[in-house]
Amino acid sequence: TVTHTLPMLSLANAFTENEVREFDNRVKKLLGTSTVHYVMEPKIDGLAVELVYEHGEFVNGSTRGDGYVGEDITQNLRTIRTVPMRLFSHQNLAVPERLEVRGEVYMGKKEFKELNRKRELAGEPVFANPRNAAAGSLRQLDPRVTAQRKLRIFCYGSGQIVGFQPETHYQFLECLKRWGFNVNPHIRLCSDIEEVISFYGHLHGIRDELPYEIDGTVIKVNRLDYQERLGSVSRAPRWALAYKFEAYEETTVIKDI
Ligand code: IVH
Repeated sequence: TVTHTLPMLSLANAFTENEVREFDNRVKKLLGTSTVHYVMEPKIDGLAVELVYEHGEFVNGSTRGDGYVGEDITQNLRTIRTVPMRLFSHQNLAVPERLEVRGEVYMGKKEFKELNRKRELAGEPVFANPRNAAAGSLRQLDPRVTAQRKLRIFCYGSGQIVGFQPETHYQFLECLKRWGFNVNPHIRLCSDIEEVISFYGHLHGIRDELPYEIDGTVIKVNRLDYQERLGSVSRAPRWALAYKFEAYEETTVIKDI
């Protein structure tokens, strides 16, 4: 097991525009301001992990677990090509002494179908969805099996950072890209809640075209000093909200009993 330096929190959910507007009002009231910028991100349907880098070197990685203690999956994470083993240092952007990065490991829709097709042919039980397939693949005792599963990662957050202090979440995401992390390309910095709501509509519209599954969006207060002031209650930050999509519905025909 691995104890996370900072707990990996979960998110409060919203399903309606009204709930999102309530969130915005709450945030503004608590901060005592009328201007709050938000970052909108797709909510990737995968498995949350934490990657730890010391002086730019990947040293260990773990699952979220119960948010406080996760499982050590370092060897399995090493097999994921989009998990950098060494970070790029730049003249005006050095790599922090210690960097804990959080992200979502996922399996693409195409890779999921292909894996299930092979399992069916081999008489093995199929996975119910890409999320379960990603989780099952990461928990393999043999990293060689994980390596064959074609997993990927999108990074979206941090744990502890020593030797670097970004001012905004959006700036941190830009740094992540420059250090060599994979960051989702459909992320938008919004200057108010109207933009947030309209970008939700945009992501909802492209949901089916994306090569991976998303189950909604995540709205995050951009300024990190604001995030700190807002803090968290009952394991969920007050500075973020999951604005979910409706779940896919399928019809099953019962042919016989
Ligand atoms: S932020 C405190 N950003 O959603 C912030 N989470 O329901 C917590 N997830 O455990 C995470 N995409 O596994 C964040 N762009 C994204 C995400 C994301 C997927 C997952 C993550 C988290 C869960 C919370």
